[in-house]
Amino acid sequence: MPLTNGDAHHTRTQILSKQKNLDYTKALEILDSEYKTRDGLDVRSLVDSRENGGLTYNDFLVLPGYIGFAASAVSLETPVTKRITLKAPLLSSPMDTVTEHSMAIHMALLGGLGVIHHNCSAEDQAEMVRKVKRFENGFILDPVVLSPTTTVGEAKELKEKWGFGGFPVTEKGTLRSKLVGMVTNRDIQFYAEVDDPVTKVMSTDLVTAPSGTDLNEANAVLSKSKKGKLPIVDEHGNLISLLSRSDLMKNLHYPLASKRPHSKQLICAAAIGTRPDDKRRLQLLVEAGLDIVILDSSQGNSIYQIEMIKYIKEKYPELDVIGGNVVTREQAASLIAAGADGLRIGMGSGSACITQEVMAVGRPQAAAVFNVSSFAARFGVPCIADGGIQNVGHIVKGLAMGASTVMMGGLLAGTTESPGEYFVRDGKLVKAYRGMGSIDAMEDSRASGSSKDAKAKSAGTARYFSEGDRVLVAQGVSGSVLDRGSITKFVPYLIAGLMHSFQDMGIQSLSQLHEDVLEGKVRFELRTASAQAEGNVHGLASYDKKLYS
Ligand code: IMP
Repeated sequence: MPLTNGDAHHTRTQILSKQKNLDYTKALEILDSEYKTRDGLDVRSLVDSRENGGLTYNDFLVLPGYIGFAASAVSLETPVTKRITLKAPLLSSPMDTVTEHSMAIHMALLGGLGVIHHNCSAEDQAEMVRKVKRFENGFILDPVVLSPTTTVGEAKELKEKWGFGGFPVTEKGTLRSKLVGMVTNRDIQFYAEVDDPVTKVMSTDLVTAPSGTDLNEANAVLSKSKKGKLPIVDEHGNLISLLSRSDLMKNLHYPLASKRPHSKQLICAAAIGTRPDDKRRLQLLVEAGLDIVILDSSQGNSIYQIEMIKYIKEKYPELDVIGGNVVTREQAASLIAAGADGLRIGMGSGSACITQEVMAVGRPQAAAVFNVSSFAARFGVPCIADGGIQNVGHIVKGLAMGASTVMMGGLLAGTTESPGEYFVRDGKLVKAYRGMGSIDAMEDSRASGSSKDAKAKSAGTARYFSEGDRVLVAQGVSGSVLDRGSITKFVPYLIAGLMHSFQDMGIQSLSQLHEDVLEGKVRFELRTASAQAEGNVHGLASYDKKLYS
């Protein structure tokens, strides 16, 4: 006989009290057979329950499951494309206030992926890709180099500016030129003749290591020499890179680093547009070693993108292509049919975005992620939930809706590794963050695009305007975000938060999450406005919201 709500507590107590040696699995079986349906909503009912509007991350919660393992046993390994897997489901956006080489290197070291923006010349973007691919943990590939005519005063200023000393001196004052000496802090600290050239104080009894030396060998040389820096030189004595003892201490351990199997190099992704010029740009990026290209468009279901995907799959079969952005199954079907190896989902949910307000197109993000990812999963195409991530909980929800990874802009823009300098606004330390469709970003792009110098041409905002446009229509705003410190602390916090959340859900891996959501084993609950207020801090006279230590 079916149960009514009033029977529930009573009957469950009866069932449980009749059982001897009842374990959780048995109890679940009994509950399933008696109640017909599990507590809470399955994912389809959750998404469909929003009859009068689409689902957003804040509209729902995941119900807790059974904890039978430690949080440290949770695996977040996940595909970002059909062929490439990451240890952490975290990507940084291709935006000029978020991802250049430093962000891309550190995201990859920490297990995620940074997507290098294209609001710069093709040559500059290719150089950034090269820096990521050449990066070897501990080796500095673009050290500050002095020339023999640099003065002691200038060396002191450089030390102040960069916060470190220990500069190599080469004949031409550049990398790949003959190394002639090293200037350390001690050489210049108390030297009063500031107009003297550094050649007067530099040491010339150099300990160097040949290029090709691996980190362990270089480390051994550094320890023996007791020096702070070890220059790496080629067979002609030209400076190739530098190894720093303090970096070594800090950087050696990145067990999650994103690398292809059997490769020492970090995985690198970059964005391009779908204009004819972008083919040349892509060629430079591929020559620099690119692994994944993202076709950057706010509405990806276009003839331009479909043709570009086909062109890339034909010309660069080794390169993985992520198409987008999409928010509907139909858009996804086009790009999957064209050959996309991954999809990027989101339209109008970004923190600096006004697309929905201005264009009247888009979709609430949780609904978009569920509808597209559940469809794409049938073709083995992994999806990125892009935009609208404000906290760890939003990442969990994006993944629970079927995304394999999430992409963040605003959340990472305030970190040390994003481009740009910190400044103070209203007494708080901030960094600039702007939508790529903001007037500021489009005007910057247009100014360089009209430059006579073809090399200076940038295209990163092409997703928001065409070259002939007389009026620029903004789809984004320009503003600032609070300082978040280094991603070397922030990303491990996101990862630890995810592992604890998975433990609460009773889920030990990301693939299990996707399976259990689709099978209706992971359950959800809608949140009213008052439920949202209840779930946030309330009733305190004041508080500090420190997120991790
Ligand atoms: P956030 O993480 O919420 O800040 O969103 C980042 C995402 O917003 C990016 O990855 C882009 O998909 C999207 N985006 C970037 N610039 C703009 C814009 O100007 N208008 C609309 N969306 C944008």
